[in-house]
Amino acid sequence: MHAISKPVSRLDGALRAPGDKSCSHRALMFAGLAEGTSLIEGLLEGDDVKDTAKAMAACGAQVERLSLRRWKVTGVGEAGLQNPTDVLDMGNSGTGARLMMGLVAGQKLKATFDGDVSLRARPMGRVLNPLAEMGAKNESNDGKLPLTLEGAPLTAIEYTPPHASAQVKSCVMLAGLGAEGTTIVNEPRKTRDHTERMLRAFGVTVDVEEKDGSSRISLKGGQKLTATNVDIPGDPSSATFLWAAGLLVKEGGVSVLNVMENDTRDGLVHAAKAMGADLVVEQTGESGGEVITTITSKPSALNAKSPDLAIVPAMIDEFPLFGVLAAFADGDTLVTGAEELRVKESDRITATVNMLKANGVEAEERPDGFLVKGCGRNGVPGGGVVEACHDHRIAMSAMVMGCAAKAPVKVDDISAVATSYPEFFAHMQSLGADIEQG
Ligand code: S3P
Repeated sequence: MHAISKPVSRLDGALRAPGDKSCSHRALMFAGLAEGTSLIEGLLEGDDVKDTAKAMAACGAQVERLSLRRWKVTGVGEAGLQNPTDVLDMGNSGTGARLMMGLVAGQKLKATFDGDVSLRARPMGRVLNPLAEMGAKNESNDGKLPLTLEGAPLTAIEYTPPHASAQVKSCVMLAGLGAEGTTIVNEPRKTRDHTERMLRAFGVTVDVEEKDGSSRISLKGGQKLTATNVDIPGDPSSATFLWAAGLLVKEGGVSVLNVMENDTRDGLVHAAKAMGADLVVEQTGESGGEVITTITSKPSALNAKSPDLAIVPAMIDEFPLFGVLAAFADGDTLVTGAEELRVKESDRITATVNMLKANGVEAEERPDGFLVKGCGRNGVPGGGVVEACHDHRIAMSAMVMGCAAKAPVKVDDISAVATSYPEFFAHMQSLGADIEQG
C-alpha cells in the first residue's frame, strides 16, 4: 500500500507515544529466560516485537497477550530455553535477530535464523565474530542470514565492538550470561543502555564504568534472572515524528506524552534545539527505571546546524528525519561519522538523500553521512515519490515532510511502518495531517 501526505498549515493535539521498541524486545527476552511470571505493560505491538515474542515462545517461554499492550510471560527459569523446532524468522528486525543470537549461544541452543529481504542483506558477522570467539559455532550465508548458530560451553571474553552498536553489545552480554567467567564490553562511544538497565531489573548484577562518553560493562556468567513486572516507557524515536511535524508546519502545537528520556536516545532533541526548534521537555514521572517526559513542539524557523560526532550514537535512528529538518532549515547541514546508517533497515544514507532529491531538495551522499542544502522555512518543493526501501523510518520521515512541503509527498510502500509504529497514520491524522492511503 502507498500513502500520500498533503500539505497542511496546522497540526495540534496531545498523544501518547507507543511503547519503546528496544525495551519491548528486551522485556520479552528477559522475561522468557527468567524464573517466574512477568507482566509487561505498554508493550509495543509492532511486527518486530511480535516476531521476538514468537521466537521466545518457540524456545519454550510461555508468552500470552492478555489485552491491548498487556502481556504475560512465564519464563523457562532453571529448565532453560529449548531448541526451536522451526526456523526463527526475525522479520525486519536487526535487534530481534542479533539479541536472540546472543541468547541462543549463551543458552547452548542450536537454531536457524532468517528474516525478510532487508534483514537478509544486513551484516551478522558483527555478532557472529564475538560469539565465535566465545566458542559458539555458526554456518552462515557469508556473514548474512539465513544462518545456523550452535551454542557450546562458552568462555567469557573482553570485547570492543568495531562499530558503535547496542545490538552487538547486548548480544555479547546475553551470551556472557551463559559463559564461564566475566564478560566485558568496552564502548569507546556509549550506545543505548537498555540491556544494562533492564537486566538489573531482572536481578542481574551488571557493572558499568563510564568516562568521557565511553563505557565499560562487566557481567559475570551464570547469573539467573528473576521475573519482574515491566512498564515499557514510550519510544523517543517514534515520538520524534510527531514533534518534528509540529515544528515544520505554520500553526498549532504538538505534545507527545510518555516519552522516555535517556541520554543515549535524545540526540535529535538536542540537534533540533541547536537549530532553533521551539521544543519543551518536561519530566512527568518514572517508568521501568527510565525518566518519562512530555515533549511539546511549536512551529519554528530552523537554522542549519551540523551535528557533532559525539551525538551520533544518541540519534542513530533519527537521521532520515534529521535530513527532513535540515531540508526545511536555512543553510547547509553536513552529517559525518554516521557510516552505520549504511547497514540499517535500508542504506539510510542513500535512502535519505534519494527521499530529499525526489522532493526537490539538493542533497549529496558522503561515505559516512550526507550533505543537505536547506530550502529555508516552507520552501521544500515536495511533489515526489519516495521509495521506502523496506524501511519504516524512511516512510515516516517522508510523511512528515509532506505535511509541510509545497506539494504532496508520496511513499511507494508503507508496510514497514507496522514494524515499529502501527498507530503512526492514526496518530498523524488525529493531529490534523492529511494523509491518504491506497
Ligand atoms: C537498537 C540498536 C541500534 C538501533 C536499533 C535498536 C537496540 O542498532 O539502530 O534501532 O535496540 O539495541 P545498532 O546496534 O545496529 O546501532
